[in-house]
Amino acid sequence: MTRPRFYITTPIYYVNDVPHIGHAYTTLACDAMARFKRLDGYDVMFLTGTDEHGQKVETAAESAGMDPLDFTTQVSQNFRDLLPALNVANDDFIRTTEPRHIKSVQEIWRRLIDRGHIYLGKYAGWYSVRDEAYFAESELVDGMAPTGAPVEWVEEPSYFFDLSKWREPLLKFYEENPDFIAPNTRRNEVISFVSGELRDLSVSRTSFKWGVPVPGDDDHIMYVWLDALTNYITAAGFPDTESETYKKFWPADVHMVGKDILRFHAVYWPAFLMAAELPLPRRVFAHGWWTNEGQKISKSLGNVIDPHELIETYGLDPVRYFLLREVPFGNDGDFSRTAMIGRKNSDLANDFGNLSQRVLGFIAKNADAQVPSPNAFTEADEAMLAAADALLAKTRVAYDNQAFNRALEGIWDVVGAANRYIDEQAPWTLRKTDPERMATVLYTLLEVIRHLAILMQPVVPGSANLMLDQLGVAADARDFAHLGAAHRLAPGTALPKPAPVFPRHVEAE
Ligand code: MSP
Repeated sequence: MTRPRFYITTPIYYVNDVPHIGHAYTTLACDAMARFKRLDGYDVMFLTGTDEHGQKVETAAESAGMDPLDFTTQVSQNFRDLLPALNVANDDFIRTTEPRHIKSVQEIWRRLIDRGHIYLGKYAGWYSVRDEAYFAESELVDGMAPTGAPVEWVEEPSYFFDLSKWREPLLKFYEENPDFIAPNTRRNEVISFVSGELRDLSVSRTSFKWGVPVPGDDDHIMYVWLDALTNYITAAGFPDTESETYKKFWPADVHMVGKDILRFHAVYWPAFLMAAELPLPRRVFAHGWWTNEGQKISKSLGNVIDPHELIETYGLDPVRYFLLREVPFGNDGDFSRTAMIGRKNSDLANDFGNLSQRVLGFIAKNADAQVPSPNAFTEADEAMLAAADALLAKTRVAYDNQAFNRALEGIWDVVGAANRYIDEQAPWTLRKTDPERMATVLYTLLEVIRHLAILMQPVVPGSANLMLDQLGVAADARDFAHLGAAHRLAPGTALPKPAPVFPRHVEAE
């Protein structure tokens, strides 16, 4: 039986910067999504990587006094190192300086030229190196790019892509594919942008060298966004459109991006692909931006959040949980120590951690350290089990909408119900009055915790698996096919000595 496939990508990161919370955020969201799909039976490809060409990187290499390739090789490693630190399970890591990519970009270029969508002209206008983007006079705000980045006047020969011709096809595509851009507010922004005037796009530069040369005209270097966007299809095997990987994984299911780079992904990229007669990705999701204690994050303010430092202070899984739980995915969010510690202590330690620790600790002491044998289930037990069994379907809908916070809220509804159930059923009283009933209550709780832990794996993989170890769930019985009544815990299974999985936050001395 062939499994359904799922292809998800992060943006590829500029190597002139050190990894910060923004990079970690996009990557974590993709990791949770990829893990969820793998557990749900999909054949997943999860891609991340680095964007290594362009004027910005050339300048950064120059100021470091390094050859650009040596420079990018060195700094690209910082992004690679972030992945194991975040416990991210990507399947591929692409660098735009790799031969497979250069071959692919040049092939895209040829396809565009062959089909008459690229012509030689002259560019005269504003360019922002920081955004690697062109701006018209009318778009400038107080002499700066709309992002606040400085602009410079550029006048040089340039190849152009006939973007203006793609206005109607793009609008038709958005209309026929209402899920292509999410969230909806962003979709409206893109539609209104494209409904205005779309100008042809300058797609080559002659004033610097660090990039992919235009085939047949070495004086020109390809525009870094045409180069960068192509990474997604390179990793799927392009230009070998007959390869197994390509046939299986292209088009991508989700390109996850920050709101600042949505236009490139939702306008330019589909236009390039249509013009090259290649299939379009299914969805582009634009997430919001984080501030730090209410302030915009910037190098000049010195308030950049280093993901390694966060992990050291709060622990990896609490950080993963916080970022995906704190704000509705798609909205902007504020990182604050108080909120971070609050989530760690109340959601993870008190609600979820305590639930499993109370039940497992009690079983270790009072129920022979094994999965108890249940007797007849009461209505309350049935309701509790039904709530756990129903969670997969709800969680799946939330993930399919990249609504990580909603997925977690749904899971926490059941965590809350289980905490109320344990207080109402009071197994500690039943121990003396009705040991058989106690066994049924404990069994019900173990089953609920098993469901919660299995479903929490995408967000807190390390901790959820520790909890599953303590529940005696075999390593090959942790995917979503094992949820529900058909795979209940076997009574009599010995349970290892439990230890708290979600410790409370302790302030460093
Ligand atoms: N190289 C381009 C992407 C090319 S994709 C074909 C790029 N790189 S980047 O390194 O500057 O940014 C990568 C991602 O980090 C973007 O999605 C951006 O939105 C995200 N973030 C940067 N700062 C952020 C926050 N403060 N908060 C959340 N995400 C932010 O753009």
